[in-house]
Amino acid sequence: MSTAQRTEAVHVRAPGKINLYLGVGLPHDDGYHALATVFQAVSLYEDVTAYPADGFSLEVHGDVDLDEVPTDDRNLAMRAAKLLAQATGVTAGVHLVIRKGVPVAGGMGGGSADAAAALVACDALWGTDLGAHRLHELAARLGADVPFALHGGTAIGAGRGDDLTPALARGRFDWVLIMSAQGLSTPEIYGRLDTMRAHGEALADDPQPSLDVPVAVLQALRAGDAAALAPVMFNDLERAALDGRPDLEHALADGVRLGALSGIISGSGPTVALLCGGPEAARAVQQELQAAGHTAVHVHGPVAGARIVV
Ligand code: C5P
Repeated sequence: MSTAQRTEAVHVRAPGKINLYLGVGLPHDDGYHALATVFQAVSLYEDVTAYPADGFSLEVHGDVDLDEVPTDDRNLAMRAAKLLAQATGVTAGVHLVIRKGVPVAGGMGGGSADAAAALVACDALWGTDLGAHRLHELAARLGADVPFALHGGTAIGAGRGDDLTPALARGRFDWVLIMSAQGLSTPEIYGRLDTMRAHGEALADDPQPSLDVPVAVLQALRAGDAAALAPVMFNDLERAALDGRPDLEHALADGVRLGALSGIISGSGPTVALLCGGPEAARAVQQELQAAGHTAVHVHGPVAGARIVV
């Protein structure tokens, strides 16, 4: 298996994601909730470089807050490398260098992007050449969002979010992201939604009777029509993420007041994703938000999933 191992480093780039629709059902016995979601990969990236090594090691760099990023076996990229080695019988190791561009604990799948990138990078470094199907299987074992980070683009996620169907999306969508200095824990936000529902703090139709992505969302994507997409974006986790976080309510309101078509919390938050009418509108919204004291970046989607950078 290891005959085609490379002696040079492999650099892979993987995108962060926005859930532009996220319907959450009831929890299963394993703690995971049934989802109906639409992911879009956006132009905010994790860069992972895999260097040949005897053992397994990892370092993390980047301009985002790195305090909460582990460099041991709790790191999903490290787990990805070891899972691939175990699944293929490879005895070589790897030194992974991660350059983070996606906010940590931001609801944008940064850790999942690292894992997807590490799988692709180690697969090339070790010459294991697993192919898309087996990589997807390993990705799903690492986390619910990891398969999407491999595939990228725009996709519907069912099951835990890892049962993917590509969604047709024409053109490009322009987003402004408002970053938060204080992250949120994904398991905590799912747990808070369960508690809110148990205490009757849920809406009358919550959880949704059917966990399907509404046709209007898919039509708007197919038409490449941001104005049609804006009013049908939805996130069941939003109320749980906003609970006790008035700063996020203000960020959402500021974004819409300053010209975004609409805004949602991305995934389990706290990143705010504002959909804008086009590149120029997004640039203007981003500048005004910056001037108002927010940390805002302009990104676009859909973009490709984890890919080797040459
Ligand atoms: O799979 P991943 O590690 O990304 O999930 C993080 C946590 O988010 C899970 O441990 C679970 O608490 C929650 N989750 C969930 N239902 C999903 C996906 C994630 O409850 N479909």
